[in-house]
Amino acid sequence: MLERTLAIIKPDAVASKNAGKIIDMLESNGFSIIGMKKAHLTKEQAKKFYIVHKERPFYDSLTTFMSEGPIIVMVLEKENAIEDYRKLMGATNPEEAEEGTIRKMFGTNIERNAVHGSDSKESANFEIPFFFNELELV
Ligand code: RTP
Ligand code: MG
Repeated sequence: MLERTLAIIKPDAVASKNAGKIIDMLESNGFSIIGMKKAHLTKEQAKKFYIVHKERPFYDSLTTFMSEGPIIVMVLEKENAIEDYRKLMGATNPEEAEEGTIRKMFGTNIERNAVHGSDSKESANFEIPFFFNELELV
């Protein structure tokens, strides 16, 4: 069954002009981009998006980072999209990510790690409507 997941090219990777290479990797790995937009979140919006992490020590730093510059937000569609995109992203810490993963190639450290991906169906169901309405997904 086709599945949808939310992908974000984070401010570090947009600023370093790696967005095109990352989008190329998504398409080469069988993901269809069914929605895409550029956005620049306020700190308040970043805090709402990452509300699940509100008790974590990195919440303030993460939301400052995610609001420091423009991001590219996409909805990806594919069989098993959530798990397959998590594999393509690699481990949260780029130093621990496998060769050939997006974070290994374009991440800088555990926070500035180039991309975000929904980690479950429940997360995708919160994250996709955060950025897109159904009419924007084609
Ligand atoms: P994401 O949600 O962005 O796809 O990343 P993830 O599932 O691999 O990692 P998660 O635990 O959900 O953490 C969300 C983001 O917070 C930053 N982070 N910083 N300083 C730290 O120890 C730390 N840990 C996580 C990263 O930007 C991570 O992607
Ligand atoms: Mg996560």
